[in-house]
Amino acid sequence: YLKPANCYRLFSSRGQSNEHYANIDWDNLGFDHVSTDYMYTAKCYQTGEFSQGSIDPLGGIQIFPSAGVINYGQGVFEGLKAYRKENERDILLFRPYENALRMKKGAERMCMPSPSIEQFIKAVKQVAMANRRWIPPPEKGALYIRPLLLGTGSLLGLAPAPEYTFLAYVCPVGNYFKEGSTGLNLYVEDNIHRSTLGGAGDVKTISNYAPVLKAQINAKNRGFSDVLFLDSANKSFIEEASASNIFIANGNVISTPSLKRGTILPGITRKTIIQLSRSLDYKVEERDISVEELSKAEQVFCTGTAVVVAPVRTVTYKDQRFEYRNSTVSNELHRILIGIQTGVLQDTMDWTVPI
Ligand code: COI
Repeated sequence: YLKPANCYRLFSSRGQSNEHYANIDWDNLGFDHVSTDYMYTAKCYQTGEFSQGSIDPLGGIQIFPSAGVINYGQGVFEGLKAYRKENERDILLFRPYENALRMKKGAERMCMPSPSIEQFIKAVKQVAMANRRWIPPPEKGALYIRPLLLGTGSLLGLAPAPEYTFLAYVCPVGNYFKEGSTGLNLYVEDNIHRSTLGGAGDVKTISNYAPVLKAQINAKNRGFSDVLFLDSANKSFIEEASASNIFIANGNVISTPSLKRGTILPGITRKTIIQLSRSLDYKVEERDISVEELSKAEQVFCTGTAVVVAPVRTVTYKDQRFEYRNSTVSNELHRILIGIQTGVLQDTMDWTVPI
């Protein structure tokens, strides 16, 4: 691979490493944008076939002001992580096939062609390895990989764009929330909704995210970590937070809102946590969860690629505040999930993919 300048060797407690790392503060990674070295780009013109794709220095992309994506929001994205194993040399991706499949489904909903599963996975591997020096040392975080599929061709009337760009860039990341393991304080929003029946709430379209900002900023201004959205039809069932799915736990039973209305993002971490919990002999339910149930829940937690598994400390709904002092379930699931993702625990489900 391409050899970037400005590297330094990291001397770890495990002895001298041969790995070159970017010169950043690895002990204080959050979830902020950092410019890395390379990006992946492929184009799809009228044929519906994507070009082979190339790795090039990270930089701006040129699109016309009339591009479909910036006029009408025709775009989907993904998020997945690459982790460095304890030996610092081997790199693991987590369930990239699931992201490739979800992008395909999202593209279909948004009337876009999509790269093949093979091209998606190859792109993700290539962009991760080209930016290898940005993959955090063990236990310091992960390389977040952001594939994007955009309608970049020009048009004026509302229609699918005539050309598409599939690209991927990366960023080293740590905790998504500053509150990290101490617990999130969620505010239940009963006025603004993330998604509606028949809408596109169950696909990762870029146009699902900006409408959430108003509620998120209002909540943050009032000291909350994030917003918890209710279903728009009944205003009574919890759906998800602005960037993660939600779970509750009571004794041996773990519950999460069901996907049946098509209004909730089918998170890959959500699916993983359901499978992992079942393998640990929890009873897992996917069902409607009324907001009132939060007053009786023993534990609440959020899941997502960026968020991983984050305990919730309080939920505020109208003038009520529910508190959760216990986070044993999310702590256990977090430990096991990260253990599998980093190769510390055995991956019996074949979720990790070495690069
Ligand atoms: C992810 O968790 O990967 C997401 O795409 C959420 C995003 C808002 C950071």
